[in-house]
Amino acid sequence: MSKQILVTGGTGYIGSHTVVELQKSGFEVVIADNLSNSKAEVVDSIKEITGIEPQFEKTDLSIKDQSDALFNKYKKIEAVIHFAAYKAVGESVERPLEYYNNNINSLINILSNMREHNITNMVFSSSCTVYGQPDKLPVTEKTPRKEAESPYGNTKAICEDIMRDFCKANTNIKCIALRYFNPIGAHESALIGELPVGVPNNLVPFITQTAAGIRKELSIFGDDYNTPDGTAIRDYINVTDLSRAHVVSIDRLIKNRNKNNYEYFNVGTGNGLSVMELVKTFIKVTGVKLPYKIVERREGDIEKIWADTSYANKELGWEATKTTEETLLSAWKWEKKIRSL
Ligand code: NAD
Ligand code: UD1
Repeated sequence: MSKQILVTGGTGYIGSHTVVELQKSGFEVVIADNLSNSKAEVVDSIKEITGIEPQFEKTDLSIKDQSDALFNKYKKIEAVIHFAAYKAVGESVERPLEYYNNNINSLINILSNMREHNITNMVFSSSCTVYGQPDKLPVTEKTPRKEAESPYGNTKAICEDIMRDFCKANTNIKCIALRYFNPIGAHESALIGELPVGVPNNLVPFITQTAAGIRKELSIFGDDYNTPDGTAIRDYINVTDLSRAHVVSIDRLIKNRNKNNYEYFNVGTGNGLSVMELVKTFIKVTGVKLPYKIVERREGDIEKIWADTSYANKELGWEATKTTEETLLSAWKWEKKIRSL
């Protein structure tokens, strides 16, 4: 009998790609999402890709009654992958209470339901934002965390601490936090991808929307950083590669291959790319015109970060496989599809 995985936030960007990879690996999926930042039609797109319709529950995990009802209804859940959260950094500065309430209460509700129903496996979406601007690069899992730059970042640090303490007190429960670097791209089918609301804050959606003619030009935030071309450096990870990291983490937990009952891993490519390098690669592989200008640095941005992925490679038996070229092409294919270009 296939094992049932609860995927919170499963109609969202990373969640939907992970549902596809879970189904491809033979897992049965229940999605719980309140649709605050995604659409129910994503369920149909997932079915179009895999031929299997995941079960879907419209649930707000930050509300205890709704979380209780979900766990009372589904009795076969073996593991939870918890994506559901608010994620806009700027908005979190303006509405900190909403961010703390949503991101932290959802985790607390889920963990308490897991304890109650004896569900022992959980994978959580954390972020490289917990490292701030590291003193030494690349960052390993031993790199110290720094004080969060935003309420959003702080919710990730607090959630990691909650899981660590919860696992210490409940030794039968196992949690893995995956610290994502910068997820980009879309499923190769272009049936699912990222759907930013309004003006995108993140680089790649802004690039594809500019290339599609929706935005006049891309602003490159700063060319006076201490990097080879002066623009900031990040580790851009393909969303399908990132999704596979969840499947192998679930496998590790279900098979009791974990070393501790709370573990955390860097999920990136191990390569740092500058904004300018990314822009030039996009232009090269798509052949599309991309107007851009250099502007001031964006407040709160760090200069450079990329991952040392050797611990994840060794322990999870996972590594990123997709090239930046194919990932940017997938993002462009998705943008063209949703704009009917
Ligand atoms: P997303 O907004 O596309 O997906 C999150 C989903 O969670 C959405 O479908 C939303 O409707 C749902 N949701 C939010 N609050 C909920 C609640 N209370 N109850 C039920 N559903 C709720 O975001 P994403 O990019 O797919 O991110 C997934 C996770 O990964 C988040 O936890 C995010 O913080 C984390 N993360 C994302 C990135 C990134 O760049 N995308 C980087 C690091 C970490
Ligand atoms: C942002 C979040 C971070 C989150 C991560 C992944 C901030 C401060 N941080 O990181 O918490 O974990 O997303 O979702 O928002 N850029 C431009 N022009 C643009 C947009 C971006 O030059 O129009 C540059 C940025 O300055 C940065 C790089 O592109 O150097 C990547 O930016 P972005 O995609 O927003 O991700 P991060 O800032 O790394």
